[in-house]
Amino acid sequence: MPSKMSKPLCVFLFCLLTLCAALAQTPQFVPFQSAQPVLTAMRDALPPELKTTNPVTADAWNKWVRDRDKEIRGRIEGGEAETLTNLLRLGVTYTKEPRISFVDLQNYGKDREVNSLAEKRADDLIRALAGPRLSEGMLEMRVFLEKKGFSPATPDGRKKIKAYLLANLAHQRDDLNKWGAELSAKKISIYQGFKDRDISTDSNLYPDYTIELHLRKMMEQGLLKPGSVHRVAIVGPGLDFVNKNFGSDFYPPQTTQPFALIDSLARLGLADPASVDVYTFDISARVNRHIERARKTAAAGKPYTIQLLCTPLEQWEAAYRAGFLDYWQKFGDRIGKPATRIAVPAAAAEIWNRAVTIRPGVVMRITPVDMNVVYQTLPLPPQQQFDLVIGTNIFVYYGALEQALARANLATMIRPGGFLLTNEILPGTAPSKLADSLQTSVLVAQGDTEYVYGYVRQK
Ligand SMILES: C[S@@+](CC[C@H](N)C(=O)[O-])C[C@H]1O[C@@H](n2cnc3c(N)ncnc32)[C@H](O)[C@@H]1O
Repeated sequence: MPSKMSKPLCVFLFCLLTLCAALAQTPQFVPFQSAQPVLTAMRDALPPELKTTNPVTADAWNKWVRDRDKEIRGRIEGGEAETLTNLLRLGVTYTKEPRISFVDLQNYGKDREVNSLAEKRADDLIRALAGPRLSEGMLEMRVFLEKKGFSPATPDGRKKIKAYLLANLAHQRDDLNKWGAELSAKKISIYQGFKDRDISTDSNLYPDYTIELHLRKMMEQGLLKPGSVHRVAIVGPGLDFVNKNFGSDFYPPQTTQPFALIDSLARLGLADPASVDVYTFDISARVNRHIERARKTAAAGKPYTIQLLCTPLEQWEAAYRAGFLDYWQKFGDRIGKPATRIAVPAAAAEIWNRAVTIRPGVVMRITPVDMNVVYQTLPLPPQQQFDLVIGTNIFVYYGALEQALARANLATMIRPGGFLLTNEILPGTAPSKLADSLQTSVLVAQGDTEYVYGYVRQK
């Protein structure tokens, strides 16, 4: 009886509960027992470090999982270097020079005009990075360079930065050419090319639209009931700033997927934006810091403003165009209100933009967690497991073993009957408590179809 409990006992129980809640939110490396069924099923696909004994031992797993986590997180630094290269190619705020398109990029090094364009853009970018008042995105890029030991403040530092920028541009060209050649020789699928690449935080609204279509279909088929979503996790929410396809730098780095999801859940009547709990799992310190800052700002009563960018393409199918643009127009109406957009510079005129401010109370619903979903886990008690987890454009960075480990691991954090939605297949080659569920395909343009794969957590 609580009323008859002694005060020290109450304090002890309170501390115990607080500790349990904190532990449930602290990621741990996936324990050997949980990984074992996957390792056994995928014996032939194991890396040499796990093959030194047969079967794999707990010691070998515990070492490997920590080493791999470090290695994967190292790929994030490469992704940041790629963002800097995208800024060099596509930025419009610091230069009057035309942008370096993918076609230009392929000719970098052998076309004098492209070489000269790259040189001029590099000079302009370095001048801007050395300037006194930097935009948030520029500042992040300068901090990235400084962490690598480069300083734009001295002539020697600027020379080294230029060499670094141009070497990265050449690296992106080689990557593009190699990928293109392998694709046309059909040696790889469009997705396989990502699995050993640096991990970028690029993001845009297109996967969010297909997730909304999929959620709608789940409701129509009775898989999800109104008001049934209370706890949600987003794997790899990303941070949009000069993304490689349609990117630019006239808006600050922003995260959009958590807001897109809450907005869709509210529009469909699946969740209440004032009470839904949203966790984000990401290995990028930039992403996690950004969300933590947005929460702090919201706690001080300030909303979060998002620029909603899209680049409608001529080749889009009419149905996709109408559906996506309708989604884009409505985006945010359940969680915020329209705001003044940042005007699109003439050099990026193909980008459309509108803006919304998201209510502070909605921003506060999001909790960022630094977690590698392939190798780390949250040991959640049943009442804290998720109703829904989504992860788009993330599993593409991993091979079959890592995808199988992620599938088995995510299953442990989803409540029985809950769902995982992704836009990449997570093969069922190893046992997991996630069974294949509904799939959605959306024809974007001839030869371009987007997919959402649903998985349901078994008992
Ligand atoms: C390309 S972005 C995708 C952003 C967004 N989901 C989208 O579709 O637009 C990939 C995101 O996944 C994160 N990520 C990659 N591997 C991860 C892992 N193993 N665990 C958690 N986050 C990861 C990256 O840091 C990045 O934020």
